[in-house]
Amino acid sequence: MKVILSTTLLLSGPVLVHGLCQKYVDAATTAAENLQSAYFSGGTYPSQPVWISAVDTWHLQRLDSLAGASTYSGIIDTVFTDYETQLQTGGSYDDVQWVSIAYLLAGNVDMAKTYYDIASTAVDSSYCGGGLFWSSARDYKNAITNELYLATSGYLYDVTQDTQYLTNLKNIWEWFNASAMRGSNGLYNDGLTKDGLCANNGQTQWTYNQGVVLAGLGFLYKYTQDESAITMAWSIMDAVLADLVDNGALRESCDSTTSSTCDNDQVSFKGILVEYMAWFLSLTGRDNGTKYSDFIKLQADKVLQYAVGSAGWYSNLWYDPDANGAVWTAPSQGAALGAFVAAGAQSC
Ligand SMILES: *[C@@H]1O[C@H](CO)[C@@H](O)[C@H](O)[C@H]1NC(C)=O
Ligand SMILES: *[C@@H]1O[C@H](CO)[C@@H](O)[C@H](O)[C@H]1NC(C)=O
Repeated sequence: MKVILSTTLLLSGPVLVHGLCQKYVDAATTAAENLQSAYFSGGTYPSQPVWISAVDTWHLQRLDSLAGASTYSGIIDTVFTDYETQLQTGGSYDDVQWVSIAYLLAGNVDMAKTYYDIASTAVDSSYCGGGLFWSSARDYKNAITNELYLATSGYLYDVTQDTQYLTNLKNIWEWFNASAMRGSNGLYNDGLTKDGLCANNGQTQWTYNQGVVLAGLGFLYKYTQDESAITMAWSIMDAVLADLVDNGALRESCDSTTSSTCDNDQVSFKGILVEYMAWFLSLTGRDNGTKYSDFIKLQADKVLQYAVGSAGWYSNLWYDPDANGAVWTAPSQGAALGAFVAAGAQSC
């Protein structure tokens, strides 16, 4: 049965979710309940890095908006408690931006700005001609920190209509797009060389680095109507479909059926890619009938087929059955949740 849902059921924050594929919303609901029962304690997620907790807060808020519920609306109030000093003084300019995005979705613009302003101290034009440094060591310009700045700048403009954010989005995009960050296969590598040459460093093409950039492109399109932002996004997604997929499913380079070498961070990446693809499609009104929308739903199907252990519990292996190499952790559960929420936001 096809269920068409109005897009106006949101409680707070901007509307991001369009469709409603009920079977995926149901899978997300169970995955979320299990994530919370096993890994959420004392108002936070003690077993994973705080930036992943910010991402989970994002997935859960998106689930609420799909389900027309407010089950998880209070998590943002406690999830960063005891981590705030680390976040605000740690000099990790990607981490603070995941937090900013989670606050924006919750409708808390003041807190979102607090964390965005911290990231903005990493903006620099003296090294590699522009962009943000990854950390307070100020020696590395990488993809994720800059992609997040595109997303946070675009999202802040979307919410506040303050033109400084649109200017930031355009400026960083211009630098990012002219940088050597993107490899010849169309996928973004980890970052630029530290030797002053600012060449592509050839390091891993993580799945999430092909996703977060899409949100920036979605906002760029929304506010400039520049079709090249759409073309660019399709070419990034086509590169994902060509090079980061095994047996139809996303596979992180560290994923293995017999011996995974992924750390906590890396286990969470695939869920982020799928969620940000869905965000792009929603921002540009392409979340119905495109092959990318079908790809998102296929990822959720693969998770249900291969990553599932006991009902509602998920590993990092989306592409093949586990042969004792799977990782079963808060980040693997959160990534599966991300895939289900993204699929639930598509039309079916
Ligand atoms: C990115 O740069 C390329 C040239 O290298 C250009 O063709 C393309 O239009 C740019 N994309 C956007 C969205 O500005
Ligand atoms: C999606 O597209 C199909 C075919 O064009 C159409 O029948 C359906 O109503 C659309 N769904 C939504 C939610 O727009």
